Amino acid sequence: MNSLYQSSIKSLPLLGHGKVRDNYAVGDDKILIVTTDRLSAFDVVMNEPIPGKGMVLNQMSDFWFEKLGHIVPNHLTGVAPESVVAADEVEQVKGRAVVAKRLKPIMVEAVVRGYIIGSGWKDYQATGSVCGIQLPAGLRQAEKLPEPLFTPAAKADLGEHDENISFADMESRIGAELAAKMRDISIKLYTAAADYAATRGIIIADTKFEFGLDENGVMHLMDEVLTADSSRFWPADSYAPDMSPPSFDKQFVRDYLETLDWGKTAPAPALPADVIDKTQAKYFEAIERLTGQKLKA
Ligand SMILES: Nc1ncnc2c1ncn2[C@@H]1O[C@H](COP(=O)(O)OP(=O)(O)OP(=O)(O)O)[C@@H](O)[C@H]1O
Ligand SMILES: [Mg+2]
Repeated sequence: MNSLYQSSIKSLPLLGHGKVRDNYAVGDDKILIVTTDRLSAFDVVMNEPIPGKGMVLNQMSDFWFEKLGHIVPNHLTGVAPESVVAADEVEQVKGRAVVAKRLKPIMVEAVVRGYIIGSGWKDYQATGSVCGIQLPAGLRQAEKLPEPLFTPAAKADLGEHDENISFADMESRIGAELAAKMRDISIKLYTAAADYAATRGIIIADTKFEFGLDENGVMHLMDEVLTADSSRFWPADSYAPDMSPPSFDKQFVRDYLETLDWGKTAPAPALPADVIDKTQAKYFEAIERLTGQKLKA
């Protein structure tokens, strides 16, 4: 399995390194997104790659783009990543990159929650509502919500955390019409994906979508879609309410990190080889369970 911790594509202008992905400009209307094998936990990037993780995430996104293409247009161009880099850079993009339309990002992230967990659970315990949406009393941790909730977040500047905002705030930022469209499409995408995943024994507890506008103002789905990094996946067979179900992919890393006296700020501690191996196996299991197919190496 080829592993890539950080890409170095010299033939294209670098737009930036995210925590997990490296982005390059392809002309002025496209971008190359390379998903590396970096793993972040508690928002800190680990020092070791999880070999193949970037391929898994990239192929998960591709799988969903195709499955959900009838609901909303997306940023994929169909241009082969191998064709936009130099010959000696092809290995870095194989199976782990896409060439996307360069869109104008809508500066609100579309979070959809089907289950009450994480910050939503904290919010509910404190206020009885999630991001200002009143919920029935007596919900249990990790319980399925009566219907999926749309809870927008303002896209933060580099290095800062996204901030939950109300739907009214979203409307004032991007306009009522676009806000309603983003909400309705996001719920449709989540519902279709969650229904499919259920047939594969996976619960999608929540997820985050990003959208952008093309030169004609048409809204497109962009970024990564329904990956283990942008969503909470739970194996259905070990799901139970009243606890925080283990995440499909990062559980071994988180469990290990919790045994350390570490402040959850950079620099990250070293990960032992067995934690890396078990985590890698989990990613491979996730893509197989989801798509029914082995990772295309
Ligand atoms: N098709 C696209 N057109 C324009 N921008 C895009 C497109 N797809 C994704 N982006 C944006 O590219 C940016 C870089 O993505 P990336 O996720 O790698 O880094 P990040 O969001 O800064 O960090 P991280 O997600 O690791 O916290 C994001 O702001 C994302 O919204
Ligand atoms: Mg991002």
